[in-house]
Formats: sequence, C-alpha cells, structure tokens
Amino acid sequence: MNSNQSTALITGGTSGIGRAVAEQLAKLGVHVVVAGRNAERGEQTVAEIRATGGKANFVQTDLRNAQSTRTLAKRAVELSGGHVDILINNAGIYPYGLTHETKEEDFERVYALNVKAPYFLVAELAPLMAEKGKGAIVNVSTNAAERGIRGVSLYSSSKAALNNLTKVWAAEYGPSGVRVNTVSPGPTYTEGNASMSETLAEMTSQMPAGRPAAAAEIAEAIVFLATDRSSFVYGAKLAVDGGFTAI
Ligand SMILES: NC(=O)c1ccc[n+]([C@@H]2O[C@H](COP(=O)([O-])OP(=O)(O)OC[C@H]3O[C@@H](n4cnc5c(N)ncnc54)[C@H](OP(=O)(O)O)[C@@H]3O)[C@@H](O)[C@H]2O)c1
Repeated sequence: MNSNQSTALITGGTSGIGRAVAEQLAKLGVHVVVAGRNAERGEQTVAEIRATGGKANFVQTDLRNAQSTRTLAKRAVELSGGHVDILINNAGIYPYGLTHETKEEDFERVYALNVKAPYFLVAELAPLMAEKGKGAIVNVSTNAAERGIRGVSLYSSSKAALNNLTKVWAAEYGPSGVRVNTVSPGPTYTEGNASMSETLAEMTSQMPAGRPAAAAEIAEAIVFLATDRSSFVYGAKLAVDGGFTAI
C-alpha cells in the first residue's frame, strides 16, 4: 500500500490511542479521517495534524446503530476521493459495573459501540477494499477480553466478540487481499481513564513492564498491522500489554 495515496478511517480518532494512531499514520503520508462525537476535540485533532503537514478530516458521529456507521463509511469514502484503504475500529467504552447492576440501556450502549459499529463498518468497507484487492482493518480489543475480571462483563465480553470477528473477517475478506487483525492493549494512559491513573499504575505494578502504556506505544502496533510492513499477518491478535497476559 502506498501510504501517500491511502486513506484511513479511525473511529475514536480524536482521543487517546485513536488520536496517536491518526498522528502516526499522518506522518507516514496517510490521509486520516478521524471520527468522534465531540466537534471541538475533533477539529483540534485535525488542526494539529495539518499543522505538521498531514492530511486530516474530522467527521462528527455518534456510533449508536447500523445507520450511523453506514453514514460514517459513506462520508469517509467521499472524503477519501473514492476509497478507504485502512479502517481502525478503535472507538470503545469501558464502563465498570457488576452484572446484576447492569441496565439494559448500558448493555445496548456498550455493544452498539464496541461490537455493532465495527461490524457494520466492516460490512460497508471490507467489500469495497476486496473489490480493489487490498485493504487493512485493525480492531482494537483489550487484555480484559482474555480473563474473567470482576465488574467488566460488558466490556470484556464485547471485546471478546471483536476478537472472534477478527478471525471471521480474516476468513471472509483475507482471500480478497484484505488483512484483518487485532491489537489487544493493556492498561494505557488516555483521556478516557485520566481519573483512574493511580489505579492503572497499581494494576500494572506487578506485571513485566511494571507500568501502564503510553498511547503512542499501542499506536505503533496498530500502525504496523495497518501498513504493508505486516503484509503476511492475517487474523492475528497482537498483545501489546506490557506482559499482562503473559503471566
Ligand atoms: N485506555 C486503556 O487503558 C485501554 C486498554 C485496553 C483497550 N483499550 C481500548 O482502546 C480503545 C481506545 O481507548 P482510549 O482509552 O484511547 O479511549 P478514550 O480516550 O476514552 O477515547 C475514546 C474515543 O472514542 C470516541 N467515542 C466514544 N463514544 C463514541 C460514540 N458513541 N460514537 C463515536 N465515537 C465515540 C471518543 O470521541 P468522543 O468522546 O468525541 O465521542 C474518543 O475519540 C477502546 O476501544 C478501548 O476499549 C483501552
């Protein structure tokens, strides 16, 4: 894939890991389309990327159902001038709550963003990539999907679904040249968990890396899987978790 002529759609590209991915891809010459709800943060992200010579657009969207993902995919195709080469399914929420305290609307909200949005974005964009014979999709999961951690049933199960979908999509679209892979981050300092930084430090103190990740460290792995440097990697899950799931 020639980075200078490609376009990447990054959901949740206005904060944390997604924004770090947008910055790194833009530095490689990729036109990045970042999506999120907050217009101020979106415009700021785009302005910062443009200020360093990158090409970027913001699309405001609330990914809550299949229609919103279809609209986003259509807009990204328009902005790209006809073709989205890279899709990063990064937007995700991770609310805490015991199963018996979880309300149906919480269930719907988490699954809508963490599962339904990637599902229907892939349904829209993977066939277009397949027609062109090339594309890369990276799903952002979590180390929590590997374990039974108290209080994160919605989050960990939704990401476990995404882990399986990565393999299914590798089977469905891999033969047409579309590589689909997962990055599974460990605890990472981002805006989304800024109020929990002490908890993150404590959670990670006993693992091999001994600290949470910086968003840029997770983004490095996502960019690797999104670009031709990983041309023979299909349907894989790359743990970037400081050894969290190794011990
Ligand atoms: N941080 C960690 O420790 C960690 C660890 C493992 C895995 N992950 C995964 O990594 C991904 C990114 O996490 P992060 O911590 O970088 O996130 P974050 O800082 O909380 O940012 C979340 C992003 O998703 C967007 N978003 C949230 N709800 C949305 C909605 N309904 N529609 C459209 N966009 C929405 C947000 O934009 P707006 O607010 O403007 O909508 C923002 O750009 C997530 O999938 C998360 O599960 C994170």
